[in-house]
Amino acid sequence: MKKRSISLTVNGTVHDLEVPVHRTLLQVLREDLDQVETKYGCGTGECGACTVLVDGEKAILGCLTLAASMDGKSITTVAGLEKDGQLHPVQEAFIEEHAIQCGYCTPGMVCKSVSILAKNPKPSEEEIRHNLEGNICRCTGYVKIVQAVQRASERI
Ligand code: FES
Ligand code: FES
Repeated sequence: MKKRSISLTVNGTVHDLEVPVHRTLLQVLREDLDQVETKYGCGTGECGACTVLVDGEKAILGCLTLAASMDGKSITTVAGLEKDGQLHPVQEAFIEEHAIQCGYCTPGMVCKSVSILAKNPKPSEEEIRHNLEGNICRCTGYVKIVQAVQRASERI
């Protein structure tokens, strides 16, 4: 099986890894590095549960990204957003707005929301909804999630 040596920084920790060329970033995160906060939903790019951030602000789907293509990159999962014991404003807003029910979509939703606000700190409701289209939530009906992004936008 063809493998590649890569260096991957995950939530600030550098990992030197030998990865099979077909292995996805999601598999490496969950199965090799025990970062199980990043969720497996569909595995085919349809649900957004596996969303993580590259270089702090660009959202990507872990299930559609080959780990080998991430050599030298810095990945942030939802668990890496907290700094010095302080939740990220998006995480706080999700809690305050009760935008979490079962929580399965939340790691991906939060990472995607961080990327939306990195691109535009004051997005309209329509922009928020449009940009969250690739992230599916089966519980909340999205209203509280959108409100959480709006609340976070007031603080960023
Ligand atoms: S698990 Fe990646 S988009 Fe669904
Ligand atoms: S909170 Fe359950 S899927 Fe979103």
